[in-house]
Amino acid sequence: MPDIRPMAGKVVLVTGGTGGIGKATAIGLAALGARVGITGRDLARTAQVAAEIRAASGNPAIDGFAADMSSQAEVRRLAAAVLDAYPRLDVLVNNVGGFWAHRHPTADGLEHTFALNHLASFLLTNLLLDRLKSSAPARVVNVSSHVQAEGRIDFDDLQGARAYSGQTAYSQSKLATVMFTNELARRLEGTRVTANSLHPGVVRTNFGAEDQAWLFTVVSQVVLPFLKTPARGAETSIYLASSPETDGVTGQFFANKKVKAANKVANDLEMTARLWKASADLVGMRAIS
Ligand SMILES: NC(=O)c1ccc[n+]([C@@H]2O[C@H](COP(=O)([O-])OP(=O)(O)OC[C@H]3O[C@@H](n4cnc5c(N)ncnc54)[C@H](OP(=O)(O)O)[C@@H]3O)[C@@H](O)[C@H]2O)c1
Repeated sequence: MPDIRPMAGKVVLVTGGTGGIGKATAIGLAALGARVGITGRDLARTAQVAAEIRAASGNPAIDGFAADMSSQAEVRRLAAAVLDAYPRLDVLVNNVGGFWAHRHPTADGLEHTFALNHLASFLLTNLLLDRLKSSAPARVVNVSSHVQAEGRIDFDDLQGARAYSGQTAYSQSKLATVMFTNELARRLEGTRVTANSLHPGVVRTNFGAEDQAWLFTVVSQVVLPFLKTPARGAETSIYLASSPETDGVTGQFFANKKVKAANKVANDLEMTARLWKASADLVGMRAIS
């Protein structure tokens, strides 16, 4: 069975599609013929990158959506714009995310890493879920990281208010991504909408550039030549978004296009349900919890 298939007639949204792994994912899915929407913070930059993706893929059907997804109001505005633009949505790639060495509060007063890497994708997915269901078979693809393995969800201090470390906040957020994916997959049973998460590899992008730890800066200069290109880093996202091999596959964590064991907490039903409830409360979506 070929591991990719054409995506003509399919509609895909890639968050954080203006750079790095997300842009490469958008190019790959556009080259397969999908209509692709990308999101980024800045309207002009998003439009410019959409034009670059059209040129790189030869596919004119690329749309740019601008929203600062660290803000819940902006995520809600983004979801409304997407629902308005796309009568169907076949694949949602929740790729947006990053690393911040220091604690930054968002417009909602939440810690930035948790808000952007987890809550933004949680909220956006829930707001787009009916559209995904009515387009089924459909897929949700969530970009996590191998650091999910060392993550720990601190329910007493989800916002890192007592103690903040960039690495701890990042690995917590990436474990939250896998837990959210698995709980979503369970909630979507019988809908023909699947949800899987992935580690893209260690990839040469702008990752962490906004607020880098000094050690990270030094190490990244040394390892730079050995990192994956964004195109290689996008391979597992593209595979999960398009491959016939993953038809019906759900609730799994992937790396290098293969199922990998995730942190055991991600398969603890009590913990994933608890995180879902806490996340729903934080985004004001009690009704769906
Ligand atoms: N690079 C790696 O080695 C690696 C490893 C494991 C996992 N990951 C994960 O892969 C994903 C993509 O990372 P990357 O390395 O490609 O990072 P990147 O090059 O920094 O790209 C991040 C993307 O997110 C967008 N973005 C950042 N902050 C945003 C905000 N507040 N609102 C909306 N969009 C925002 C950026 O768009 P604008 O700047 O245009 O707004 C850009 O499109 C992340 O989830 C990351 O955690 C990366």
